[in-house]
Amino acid sequence: MQRVPGEALGQRQAAVRQAMAGLGVDSLLVTSLPNVFYLTGHEGSAGVALLTATRSQLYVDPRYAEAVAQLQASPAAPPGLEVRIVPGSYDQAIVDGLIDLGVTRVGVEAGHLTVARHRWFLSALAQAAPTVELVATEGLLEDARAVKDTHEIALLRQSCLGLTAVAEAAFRAVRAGATEREVAGAIEQGLRSGGYARPAFDTIVGSGPNGALPHYRAGERRLERGDLVVLDFGGVLDGYCSDLTRTVAVGEANAKAREVYAAVLAAQQAGIEAVRPGIPASAVDAAARQELAQRGFGDAFTHGTGHGLGIDVHELPRVSRARSDSSAPEGLLRPGMVVTIEPGAYLPGWGGVRIEDDVLVTENGYEVLTSVTRELLTL
Ligand code: GLY
Ligand code: MN
Ligand code: MN
Repeated sequence: MQRVPGEALGQRQAAVRQAMAGLGVDSLLVTSLPNVFYLTGHEGSAGVALLTATRSQLYVDPRYAEAVAQLQASPAAPPGLEVRIVPGSYDQAIVDGLIDLGVTRVGVEAGHLTVARHRWFLSALAQAAPTVELVATEGLLEDARAVKDTHEIALLRQSCLGLTAVAEAAFRAVRAGATEREVAGAIEQGLRSGGYARPAFDTIVGSGPNGALPHYRAGERRLERGDLVVLDFGGVLDGYCSDLTRTVAVGEANAKAREVYAAVLAAQQAGIEAVRPGIPASAVDAAARQELAQRGFGDAFTHGTGHGLGIDVHELPRVSRARSDSSAPEGLLRPGMVVTIEPGAYLPGWGGVRIEDDVLVTENGYEVLTSVTRELLTL
């Protein structure tokens, strides 16, 4: 596995400390696993990070003692990371750690800490350390993660490029008579052969009318001549997700299929070409949406144009209509953001088309990181 150098993790921690200072918290309890990975490089299924202005701690249970020892001995070790092996309860160890560190205003991740766990911390702290206050923070790590550093961009580039071979495997599997699940199996086999640790999400193979369900998975339906088939897949490579959709025709594509495909392709192209730093992400959504509306498929585009991509398959920024329920000013696209551009048109009972690529926001515009033909293939 390729890893981000520990020094870069140290820089991430420094940026988060600045944000912590701005919020007036003297420590931050990081319970979201993707955020723990982002800050420490620990990628287990359990673990908690605790940052103060000068210290960083990682709590793991004995299952991860060896993995973390290897991490610590490698160039991927964040400078100064203190590892605490938790013998029993994570939360008791964390309360003990907070008391040890002498912190009083502990930021918690409001978007991730469950109500039950928050209650437990409150009651344990009320007894053991009544001066310690828990302060809800929102989106602190998620905002930081939206802009990728050079190491992350290199990893995302690899993850996206590897989908070219996976797409070829998918196209080979598409033929009349194959079931959707068989095609999904070929895709997932392609991901494994390509070195991906796992699919980034449940692979979607939506054939014929099933293509009209944007988040369908893959079922027992057999592909038929004349079907359009939505193939949406991605993998996690060295901790970073890629996400690609192509829609292909089985045997032949009729005039309607070509018309819908051309409309979605034009919308995707308009969305991609709109990407540049300094504009709201909603402007990219509007560019794609307008193209579909002009061609009469505005109502058939029922989701946002895209999403940020990184450690999670869906992360900031959202590339969709500006939120009417939020008074906060919308963030602008910044160099280093990686987003999907994936408009679609869904016609219930008939089927659907979606085309998705992964795009890096550069200093001057954009760079498409995925590389698979966008012509309508007839297989
Ligand atoms: N398959 C999930 C997505 O494209 O966002
Ligand atoms: Mn997708
Ligand atoms: Mn996507």
